[in-house]
Amino acid sequence: MNFEYTEEQLMIRQAARDFAQNELKPGVIERDEHQTFPAEQMKKLGELGFLGMMVSPQYGGGGMDAISYVLAMEELSKIDASASVVVSVNNSLVCYGLEHYGNEFQKEKYLVPLAKGEVIGAFCLSEPEAGSDATSQRTTAVDMGDYYLLNGTKNWITNGNSASTYIVIAQTHSEKGHKGINALILEKGMEGFTVGPKENKMGIRGSDTHSLMFTDVKVPKANRIGEDGFGFTFAMKTLEGGRIGIAAQALGIASGAYELALNYSKERKTFGKPLSDHQAIQFKLADMATEIDAARLLCLRAAWLKDHDMPYGSASAMAKLFASETAMKVAVEAVQIHGGYGFVKDYHVERLMRDAKITQIYEGTSEIQKIVISRELLK
Ligand code: CAA
Repeated sequence: MNFEYTEEQLMIRQAARDFAQNELKPGVIERDEHQTFPAEQMKKLGELGFLGMMVSPQYGGGGMDAISYVLAMEELSKIDASASVVVSVNNSLVCYGLEHYGNEFQKEKYLVPLAKGEVIGAFCLSEPEAGSDATSQRTTAVDMGDYYLLNGTKNWITNGNSASTYIVIAQTHSEKGHKGINALILEKGMEGFTVGPKENKMGIRGSDTHSLMFTDVKVPKANRIGEDGFGFTFAMKTLEGGRIGIAAQALGIASGAYELALNYSKERKTFGKPLSDHQAIQFKLADMATEIDAARLLCLRAAWLKDHDMPYGSASAMAKLFASETAMKVAVEAVQIHGGYGFVKDYHVERLMRDAKITQIYEGTSEIQKIVISRELLK
């Protein structure tokens, strides 16, 4: 077993760390306050290759491994989880799905600009009544011969307005249940495709989350990913990797909050000595650091399994479960260590605490991760 990173992995981590400090940190509080999408920052991240990190260079990507992706996601998320969720969705859910299950036409037309970061993608599975229960798709894609007629509504779609390319999951043959579901590629501006108002969220406020409405949208058959009825398997396979990205995001939120608390504890004095000289604080820091390390190892293991073409669905669910619970716990402790300062925006930890919460919800709640893990244990 080798715990050392390669030169390349270390370089990517450093590049992400520098970008986060120099480009994401300035203005992160204001973007959160005003719910401003980090458009300029995403453009630069695209140019640096962070939006198609794992895509083969043949399709405009960086050809990097999943370990590098985890390292980059941690660094970006320490500073700005609103930006890192865009990176995660584009890489894991949209680019991965197209590269592994799309055909040549779809890869050339849609994957290449996504991997180069010229456009942003969205993954549209959740519905008003199909969040955790993803097989209950109400959006319909009726087979009309050479196109599908799409009708329905999607909810809580990350990159809902900023995206240009959307992968939409919809029911074609309801009598076949999940085996009748398809994954279709949509373009913004298709007739009948409307982006709903922006959600006013607790956390990751800089990312744009919208509902999407489809009214008689004609989607060419050529835009169906995989065979007829492959859509649910497509969504599940894609989410396996997505959960590594969100686990790494949660890890970054936790380690960002921990680093702020550690530094603050050395500077701030109470009862005549630095906070860090109080054993009550030392114990908190020790617990935080231990759980973060465990979360990091779970993220890296899932990424390593993916890089080695080994099954990683359960490992990614474990990483996401543990890292997101850790993010929430550590961020709350970081606010506590900061005392009153932790409750005001200038010190960043209150934002990290709000951002942490969504990692326990999206790409499957903690309860969904436990379902995925226990099914694997019991099968
Ligand atoms: N790979 C391949 N196939 C899979 C699979 C996987 N990982 N998981 C399930 N399947 C298959 C099953 O084998 C089964 O097929 P068969 O009937 O042919 O055997 C079929 O899919 C249905 O599976 P289940 O019977 O297990 O379905 P279920 O309804 O009982 O539960 C679930 C499935 C795991 C709970 C699933 O619904 C799920 O993951 N829900 C959460 C959805 C989710 O994560 N949504 C996130 C939205 S995206 C997002 O959040 C992005 C963002 O904004 C950041």
